[in-house]
Amino acid sequence: MAKATEPYAGLIQGLHHITLVTSNEEVNRRFYTEVLRLRRVKLTVNQDDIHHRHLFYADEKGTTGSAITFFEWPHMRPGRVGLGSPHHLSYTTPKFDSLPKWHSWLRQNKVSVDGPFVRDSRTSIYLRDPDGVTVEITAPNEGEVSQEYAQESFRSPPRVREITGDMKLTTFHHASPLTHDPEITGKFFDKFLGLTDKFVIPNPDQKGANILGIGSQVRPGFLRYLATPRPPEGYVGEGSIHHIAMAVDDDEAQQKILKRLKELGVENSGIIDRFWFHSLYFHDPDGNLLEIATRNPGYSADESPETLGTRLVLPKWLEPRRSEIESALKLTDADNRAKWPPNFPALHFPPEAIAK
Ligand SMILES: [Fe+2]
Ligand SMILES: [Fe+2]
Repeated sequence: MAKATEPYAGLIQGLHHITLVTSNEEVNRRFYTEVLRLRRVKLTVNQDDIHHRHLFYADEKGTTGSAITFFEWPHMRPGRVGLGSPHHLSYTTPKFDSLPKWHSWLRQNKVSVDGPFVRDSRTSIYLRDPDGVTVEITAPNEGEVSQEYAQESFRSPPRVREITGDMKLTTFHHASPLTHDPEITGKFFDKFLGLTDKFVIPNPDQKGANILGIGSQVRPGFLRYLATPRPPEGYVGEGSIHHIAMAVDDDEAQQKILKRLKELGVENSGIIDRFWFHSLYFHDPDGNLLEIATRNPGYSADESPETLGTRLVLPKWLEPRRSEIESALKLTDADNRAKWPPNFPALHFPPEAIAK
């Protein structure tokens, strides 16, 4: 077990952002802002593929751990969940009573939604976004909640006219990649990244499968790996989770983790300046792409808090190429018409089982 005195221990605090692939900016924006009522906090381009957009949605303030981001890559084949292509992500809503309202609101918006599912001290509902990724919305239970009680609470949900403050999605609760061996994965996070808080529990949605929780003291289980001995190989495409970013406070913390990865021979990207944060990429033992990102400078580095995400912004080194970038985006849009409302994909059942 990593000792608290070891310089890399306790530096990772939780999730920073989760990045996915969408096929269409307009459908994606309408879903995440009009249906899930997040705020677009950044409209920019993919710095590794500058002719395609990178879209950021988060809570009102762009709080660390609330941002879901998308690379817009039209005309990709649909992704496949498996090793290297995570299963789902989970947002927190503060109150159990918000869940029946969310269920009702999503159905009013023609989104496929399933639940409630009581998960120990939480209850969850599940939906799929227009590109097909599974999104869980979870809330803490108030006291003991049985499956029967939860179902009864959903029996006659009110008609919802607007997402009220008590329903707002706040930060991520967890992300769920796949692993074939929870012991190896658990050791990787413990010995390589100083995340010593972990647990293994049975997966209630799949007989014989487990969940490996990895977390920090402040965010227990912010990663919940779905563990099964022979998971399918995954690939990233439309509707996939591309990578999962974890947060550190500052550059110093990130440097310490880089040093640790180098000492242990873990292949990594080195530190990359993304303008709004600094990034370090590497893979876990199952081929899932992970990132360590700093909290600062933050999304307000180049826009005022009031106008975040309202126009295309570029890091300063791409500003000289703005007209080329804008022309490329126009060309993409001409060939990639939006369809709203989309045909929302049907849900998998049970929601946290690994499909063969
Ligand atoms: Fe989950
Ligand atoms: Fe990222």
